[in-house]
Amino acid sequence: MTILGIETSCDETSIALLKVSAGTFKLQKHVTASQIKIHTKYGGVVPEIAARQHLEALQPMLSSHIGRTQFQRIDQIAVTAGPGLITSLMVGVQEAKTLSYVTGKPLVGINHLEAHIYSNWLSHLELFQDSKKYFPALVLIVSGGHTELIIMKGHGQYMLLGQTLDDAAGESFDKVAKILDLGYPGGPILSKLAEYGNPKAIMFPRPMSTSAGYAMSFSGLKTAVLYFLEKKKQVSKKEMPDIAASFQAAVIDSLMAKVQRALKEYTPRSLMLAGGVAANKALRSSFIAEGKKNEIPVFVPDLEFTGDNAAMIAMTGYFRRKNASKNTWRTLRFDPQLPFVK
Ligand code: KG4
Ligand code: ZN
Repeated sequence: MTILGIETSCDETSIALLKVSAGTFKLQKHVTASQIKIHTKYGGVVPEIAARQHLEALQPMLSSHIGRTQFQRIDQIAVTAGPGLITSLMVGVQEAKTLSYVTGKPLVGINHLEAHIYSNWLSHLELFQDSKKYFPALVLIVSGGHTELIIMKGHGQYMLLGQTLDDAAGESFDKVAKILDLGYPGGPILSKLAEYGNPKAIMFPRPMSTSAGYAMSFSGLKTAVLYFLEKKKQVSKKEMPDIAASFQAAVIDSLMAKVQRALKEYTPRSLMLAGGVAANKALRSSFIAEGKKNEIPVFVPDLEFTGDNAAMIAMTGYFRRKNASKNTWRTLRFDPQLPFVK
């Protein structure tokens, strides 16, 4: 079957055509228009501008990349229904509903966080071919808006172990990058700088890493960086990589402390990383090392699927195909706060 995926939850307009057949799949089309350049001027995503950009990009993207005949071969449409920015979600969902109504193709609404997990299915064929072998999986979702540790017992079966009480991991990268005046988007720039620094140069706190349970916190870490800078008064350019590397190490140690605890308590059969921060090289290495230490398979998404993209929406659509219906266009609502696991 062929699934059209549409993603517009934040600042990436993305469409994908995923063909699934007899134990394998092919990503026939995957096009993403990033709005980074536009939002750079403002130092962050401006929701109204993001929505307008989606509106301008989405339809031309669909008509130039997916021709009429190709459209007829689509079996299902999958669209991000939340969580995300309300105005951005609105554009993708409305387009998907219109397409479903006009073409009579079944439609399914997809949870963006669940889709980040399925970016691993796009990256590892063995996972796609024999998912059961890897369940229960311990999943760490680290994005700009969410940081959650989850046990995935099967497709659509999740148990939340814990989440951040304040800032998400990606958000803390972005905020510290702003404090350091590194530019936008903060996460990737800060992590690049960190590659040239000493992660042991400054001992920033590891929030909640020794506390019981799986709740996490990153806003205090940002404040610790701020205090450090205030105390120093002047920071030379040479010290910047050390600050970035030390901050990044503190985030990763805090995350890994909870991952290690969950590995001991739940003895999962695999370890999975998901979300925009999964692009972080140091976090990927820590994750892979942890999997090796515990002698379980570890999955990290390919870099092309770590950020927001429609391929992961189409892949999730495949595993949610039973929920797709020709009538969904009447009822599907976008929800900026769409819950994932409670
Ligand atoms: O999943 P995502 O693309 O969007 C949301 O659903 O939130 O995640 C974006 C987040 C941003 O906070 C961005 O700074 C962060 O992921 N990010 C990184 C890296 N690449 C992206 N954070 C740390 N290191 C990176 N290499
Ligand atoms: Zn995302």
